[in-house]
Amino acid sequence: MPASPEKSENISPAAFVCGWPVQHSRSPLVHRYWLAEHHLAGSYEKVPVEPGTLAAFFDRIRQGEFVGGNITLPHKEDALKLADAADDAAKAIGAANTVWMEAGTLRATNTDWIGFVANLDEQAPGWDRADSGGASVLVVGAGGAARGVIYGLLQRGVKSVHIANRTISKAATLANDFDGNLTALPLGDVAGLAESVDLVVNTSSMGMRGQPPMSEDVINIIPYLPGHAVVCDIVYTPLETPLLEAAEKTGLTTADGLGMLLHQAVPGFEKWFGVRPKVSEKLRDLVISDLPGDTG
Ligand code: ATR
Repeated sequence: MPASPEKSENISPAAFVCGWPVQHSRSPLVHRYWLAEHHLAGSYEKVPVEPGTLAAFFDRIRQGEFVGGNITLPHKEDALKLADAADDAAKAIGAANTVWMEAGTLRATNTDWIGFVANLDEQAPGWDRADSGGASVLVVGAGGAARGVIYGLLQRGVKSVHIANRTISKAATLANDFDGNLTALPLGDVAGLAESVDLVVNTSSMGMRGQPPMSEDVINIIPYLPGHAVVCDIVYTPLETPLLEAAEKTGLTTADGLGMLLHQAVPGFEKWFGVRPKVSEKLRDLVISDLPGDTG
């Protein structure tokens, strides 16, 4: 049963994305598309919230100005602390990206992991089977995005997670923070894993437009991965990152980062507006047309 919006008397429920800056957010495009597609009265707006002022903004939600919304940088960790209640996913990931009012309580969750696994299920069905003993996964990066990805991988019962990061201590902390078969290694050591990993996921900013390129140590393992391996990048600007390009050249299955962005939005929309929306090709094309071009 889809959740009903908190205020049934509110004929036009308002949702938001808050952050600082928030101007770059593509969430309004996605949620407004779904509102129109389902002929729903409702709104979704960008709200700039300065660092240190999230508590005051949360009071506006409690007072009924909004049914809920998305939280983006730099507020995701504070959102977890300031909400009245948070679920296991948000607590394990250590950050919340979605909040909503329910029976007078401001609740928080993190839907990044749902977006991550739903995108892999769509773009690379069977990615977690590795014929049937579970997948061995190489995660590149150990920042906030890696936490959501690792939580999702563990929810899906993967066999092992190897976290490779420039700063090895951060990978080690992450490996310790989760229960399961997790190990940490420096980026320079990934070659040793090439023949045994079933999935490679980039969670770092390497390869993103305007950021340093993907580490050659990682690019160089691509030709040595098993033929059934899947390569996933959570970066979506550009849509085809050099990592995905290398994987495609080798004939491997790939999953780009845009799908995660779209799928992570589904649970929030359902909570605020009471309808479970679909991620369609048409929506994907709409967001692609809004992404910066190669010269952008
Ligand atoms: P996010 O919340 O998006 O994950 P983050 O917490 O800043 O952002 O994490 C960025 C990740 O990209 C980190 O794993 C970072 O490596 P460090 O932990 O060593 O900082 C990684 N990263 C960013 N730039 C990098 C570079 N030039 N080379 C290697 N790793 C890089």
